[in-house]
Amino acid sequence: MDSKKRILELREQLHKHNHNYYILNSPTISDIDFDMLMRELQELEAANPDMYDPNSPTLRVGSDITKDFKQVQHRYPMLSLGNTYSKSEVAEFYERVKKGLNEEFEICCELKFDGTSISLTYENGKLVRAVTRGDGEKGDDVTANVRTIRTVPLVLSGGGYPREFEIRGEVLMPWQVFERLNEERAAAGEQLFANPRNAASGTLKLQDSSVVAKRGLDAYLYFMLGEQLPADGHYENLKAAAEWGFKISDYTRKCKTIDEVFDFIDYIDVERKNLPFATDGIVLKVNSLRQQRHLGYTSKSPRWAIAYKFQAERALTRLNEVTYQVGRTGVVTPVANLDPVQLSGTVVKRASLHNADIIEKFDLYIGDMVYVEKGGEIIPKITGVDVDARFMLGEKVRFITNCPCCGTPLVRNAGEAAHYCPNYSACPPQIKSRIEHFVSRDAMNIESIGPETVELLYNYGLVKDIADIYSLEVEELMFLPRMGQKSAENIVAGIKRSLQVPFERVLFALGIRFVGATVAKRLARSFKSVNNLMNASFEELVDVEEIGERIAASVREFFANEVNRELVEKLKAAGLEFEAGDDVATPGTELLKGQSIVVSGVFSLHSRDEYKAMIENNGGKNVGSVSKSTSFILAGENMGPSKLEKAQKLGVRIVGEEEFLQMIK
Ligand code: IVH
Repeated sequence: MDSKKRILELREQLHKHNHNYYILNSPTISDIDFDMLMRELQELEAANPDMYDPNSPTLRVGSDITKDFKQVQHRYPMLSLGNTYSKSEVAEFYERVKKGLNEEFEICCELKFDGTSISLTYENGKLVRAVTRGDGEKGDDVTANVRTIRTVPLVLSGGGYPREFEIRGEVLMPWQVFERLNEERAAAGEQLFANPRNAASGTLKLQDSSVVAKRGLDAYLYFMLGEQLPADGHYENLKAAAEWGFKISDYTRKCKTIDEVFDFIDYIDVERKNLPFATDGIVLKVNSLRQQRHLGYTSKSPRWAIAYKFQAERALTRLNEVTYQVGRTGVVTPVANLDPVQLSGTVVKRASLHNADIIEKFDLYIGDMVYVEKGGEIIPKITGVDVDARFMLGEKVRFITNCPCCGTPLVRNAGEAAHYCPNYSACPPQIKSRIEHFVSRDAMNIESIGPETVELLYNYGLVKDIADIYSLEVEELMFLPRMGQKSAENIVAGIKRSLQVPFERVLFALGIRFVGATVAKRLARSFKSVNNLMNASFEELVDVEEIGERIAASVREFFANEVNRELVEKLKAAGLEFEAGDDVATPGTELLKGQSIVVSGVFSLHSRDEYKAMIENNGGKNVGSVSKSTSFILAGENMGPSKLEKAQKLGVRIVGEEEFLQMIK
């Protein structure tokens, strides 16, 4: 067949398979067959550069060409919604609409997604532009990044869509993805995202779309604009959009009375706690577009819609003291110490104050009554001060100038919010947390040494840097407080076992800033030994896939430090693995030989792709759909409901992450 015709055919097929997989949750071909089609398309496209199409399914992986975002004027301004916090205000909205229309109407109730809004333009069924809200009038052109979001269709399916239209919605980061991202950032010594909304908008603004492609963003659409929409009903238009391939929430209900609206609110207030992503309320929209036009807009927001926001759970309590924590990479975090207060079922005594700018913004004084919130966030935070409650002012809170632990003057890099202590080699909390990181599960996995043992070892002068761990002896450990012979022996045995840990994890264990587990693996595979890595130039480092300038600079800085070079020499002498075994490139056991395995759901220990690679490396076969010849399903959280049902019907075994890792150990 003519290769150009084949390219078009493959693109169409792959778009359809993507839709089946990501939106409908029911693939009709196996992953391997999918990969083969994709590979065929990639090869044909490489041989036919004139067939370039930015919407090709091969381009979902993103590109690392960096560029500043172009500003684009919105054709229709992106307005916000009026907010209400009580049902009585919802009732008032309902009455206003009733009066304004003076005829029957329906209200479409939907989730208020807590992400970042996006406007997508489609022409002739193809995605041509994706723009952020910006200031409502113009936003950033983030098309390259949005193309990597699997749930955003690049090419629409079916027919009946207008030649040109815009569809708006929310880009969000599911909780699981968010938590995993933060774990990775913590392990790499990077600043954490405060909530999934910040993580989603931060990700969308990344310059490197190949990084965006790996971040696991999702997108729900909730508003269509254009000249020739399929129906007069907003709800009906969304249903049509779902047919074209857009992800539309099932939690959308048309209500005929205010009581039905209230029922929906009550239902969602409970249900939302089980949703895999953050929501912060309900949006109510008059369903008929004709009626919407009739009601019109104020300067800021539509008269035909309103947001009912769930109360963020909040408490008022006294600020007693601000203390400062020094992390592994020296970053200093201010912590508010509070009068204990009940908040969403737990007692809160401490809350993060993030950085010096936040303290400045609130103009805090000791003794202030402050608001604490947990809404959506993992660590409670201070969201305001009750200035009226001030009577006897305590001292003004001022960010410290010197490290609270070692006294070294703090530094703040241009463009960064955080202050950090530069005393890398002698600041006690930095050393202790480097040791804790070194022995942790994903690093050297020395289970017998927990944080308390690290504290003891450091305070008694037995371990001053991570290399000292390898000269510990039972006789000296035994005499530490609360330590018997048995535990001392355990510790030494655990240390000895860690000599087997492969190079990639040793590299991660060193705690180089920005080098998380995945980056360490990448570096180990590319450079094969610590010597090669130590001598690698900046250019050689950035040449490696996924290694950007920031990581490269950090690796160079780490190995330029004499203290670290000596440390590596000491660890080498102790017998740690500093060369990649063959298994890093091609592991390969036969443990899963002859087994067909379906991978489904969201995972927390490894990514879905990593599990697929593990299956192949251990002789198993990845298949896309459940059938009676499926050996088992490797299931994470939120496995597709149709797969679950089928598995139960056919009696196919479901295996969780940990069980699976045990199987291939
Ligand atoms: S409709 C003119 N529907 O809330 C109406 N917005 O405060 C346009 N949002 O910027 C918005 N879920 O980012 C609409 N189901 C939903 C929504 C939603 C979340 C966000 C959106 C918007 C903000 C308005």
